[in-house]
Amino acid sequence: MKQWRMVSLCVMSLVLMAGSGETADGAKAKSLYDRLGGKVAITAVVETFVGNVGEDARINGFFASTDLTKLKMHLVNQICEASGGPCKYTGRTMKQTHAGMGVHDAAFGALVEDLMAALDHHKVGKTEKDELLGVLGPMKSDIVEKM
Ligand code: HEM
Repeated sequence: MKQWRMVSLCVMSLVLMAGSGETADGAKAKSLYDRLGGKVAITAVVETFVGNVGEDARINGFFASTDLTKLKMHLVNQICEASGGPCKYTGRTMKQTHAGMGVHDAAFGALVEDLMAALDHHKVGKTEKDELLGVLGPMKSDIVEKM
């Protein structure tokens, strides 16, 4: 009986630690934002990413009349906020932004490739790349209009 009480106490404290973002050794688990390297590193990735998109003939036509400085600012804040950072995204919703653009599945895939190449360029690890995709991927249904 005593043993069971110990086991459930241990399980309870593990659950509490997970909820507070603490690791087993009592350290605070780092947010994706911190592991990416904070706002400076995210800004560098976005700069490379938007450069890649600009050179990508598969999709650069979509951005022909876009204010790229504003786009980069919004992307930095969006990624910063979505990864647990202190920023606030102030742009339009993904549905509003991409409505009527006719973004198709292949275009979405091309943009993700350009983002992955930028993350590789800045030596972001696989775990962080996968986590970032996990955060941005679900936005696809608000962006893609044509399969
Ligand atoms: C997960 C994928 C994507 C994310 C997170 C994303 C995010 C954003 C953000 C934050 C903005 C700025 C919003 C604003 O101005 O208020 C934006 C604008 C834009 N996005 Fe996306 N986007 C994604 C996929 C795509 C794809 C696949 C295309 C086309 C190939 C695309 C084309 C555009 C264009 C052309 C603009 C500029 C609109 C304008 O000039 O007003 N996006 N996107």
